[in-house]
Amino acid sequence: MRLLIHKNYESASKWAADYIAGRINAVGGNKFVLGLPTGSSPLGIYKELIALYKAGKVSFANVVTFNMDEYVGLADDHPQSYHRFMKDNFFDHVDVKPQNTHLLDGTAKDLQAECAAYEQALKDAGGVDLFLGGMGADGHIAFNEPGSSLASRTRVKTLTKDTKIINARFFGGDVDKVPSTALTVGVGTIMDAREVVIIVSGHNKARALQAAVEGGVSQMWTLSCLQTHPQAVIVCDEDATDELKVGTVRYFKDIEGL
Ligand code: GLP
Repeated sequence: MRLLIHKNYESASKWAADYIAGRINAVGGNKFVLGLPTGSSPLGIYKELIALYKAGKVSFANVVTFNMDEYVGLADDHPQSYHRFMKDNFFDHVDVKPQNTHLLDGTAKDLQAECAAYEQALKDAGGVDLFLGGMGADGHIAFNEPGSSLASRTRVKTLTKDTKIINARFFGGDVDKVPSTALTVGVGTIMDAREVVIIVSGHNKARALQAAVEGGVSQMWTLSCLQTHPQAVIVCDEDATDELKVGTVRYFKDIEGL
């Protein structure tokens, strides 16, 4: 697992966007399956990818997307649904074909069937080439909260109190408005991707980044699963490294030539 430490969020986001565009361009117009997250962390990457698209440096015409998660009970057009987030912050600004974008439907009558169909759609698409993600302050990846099986697949998850409190900022600060459950790809689903890129930013993520990088592989910090992934990169800013050992920071900067 690589750890790329950038001075700040902007530079980490730019690196990740350039990297993703490079991967898409490398397949020369063939299909590229991209896993996508929501949240504050990827916003800088989406901004950079849109700029690259507008500059003619990348096209999403042959990109098939699968989002990581969606709240249960929020309709597509709810201002805080992840459907809406993706349209507003990315899809509406690039040439991705709407029929090539996939998001879990949190309003499906049969949520388990919805999750099973999503796993099947991922399989039918040939698997994910690159899964982009963020990390929660408790080390979660997608909505795989602490204690999630590292072999988990797409399913319904109950959100922790911590996550609901943190995400309340998107719901006018009202924790009771944050849905208590979500549909999420599993840790195992993410681990199946041929490549995983995670962006981590800010001091509030430092404790979780320390556990995920320096601790053992653990269901209590689900991002730590990446330690056993053959091609995983965490790109972070310096603030996120506040809890890492000086030696760890120096080691990763040294081997990455930063
Ligand atoms: C949310 C999402 C995750 C995201 C994480 C961090 O709950 N389900 O996919 O990575 O929390 O969010 P943020 O980037 O806003 O800190």
